[in-house]
Amino acid sequence: MRIHIENLTKRYQDADRELTVINNLTFEFPERGSVAIIGRSGTGKSTLMHLLGGLDAPSSGTVKYGDVVVSALSSDARAAFRGQNVGFIFQFHHLLPEFSARENVALPLIMHGASESEAASRAEELLTKVGLSHRMSHLPSQLSGGEQQRVAIARALVARPKVILADEPTGNLDIVTASEVQQLLLDINREYQSTLIIVTHNHELARSMDVVVEMLPGGALMSRQNGQATVG
Ligand SMILES: Nc1ncnc2c1ncn2[C@@H]1O[C@H](COP(=O)(O)OP(=O)(O)O)[C@@H](O)[C@H]1O
Ligand SMILES: [Mg+2]
Repeated sequence: MRIHIENLTKRYQDADRELTVINNLTFEFPERGSVAIIGRSGTGKSTLMHLLGGLDAPSSGTVKYGDVVVSALSSDARAAFRGQNVGFIFQFHHLLPEFSARENVALPLIMHGASESEAASRAEELLTKVGLSHRMSHLPSQLSGGEQQRVAIARALVARPKVILADEPTGNLDIVTASEVQQLLLDINREYQSTLIIVTHNHELARSMDVVVEMLPGGALMSRQNGQATVG
């Protein structure tokens, strides 16, 4: 899925001042493959991810998926579009504590109208893919941090989204576990031929991705691909 942002601007209104976090950005993300978003804390990476995923609406400008102007949809229509096209993975997994791994992963499918048995078997397929075939009935509290994040990945991918948005998905994991989880995401992205956009502070990971986008203070953006740099 080709994502295109055009003249995208996001301002937040605080008590006494206006903060421009995303400032008139125009950029075309690659149709497939992987994009790293890097940049210092507070430069608007999460804000950009929320706009890209239609979780939030821009102050001005557009977010397009192919020919669909997602940013112009009503919030209900955006939610439906998101459910069909986007998988989110956050730093903190947001799993439902009272449901098993299998149920957490199956839930998005059930919400899309799949039968319970169909959803459960697809959830088991995904949990096996992320290496958790022996943890299907465990509650999140019975899983390690890395295992919980794998469940979150399985949940984000179970509906086969065309776009995977991951905001510091391994930010609270130790280095070894983080690198396993990152590799898993890259492998699944390649297998599913989706677009993976991942916010990361890991420069080694960023270098292994197709495109690197750096958010700069003041809401500008710089992208690199094959050593070329463009400022937007
Ligand atoms: N809902 C909000 N209201 C007001 N300011 C916000 C809001 N969300 C984020 N900000 C501010 O916008 C800036 C960018 O935040 P964020 O996108 O979370 O940055 P990053 O993910 O790069 O650390 C920060 O200065 C933050 O305080
Ligand atoms: Mg952030």
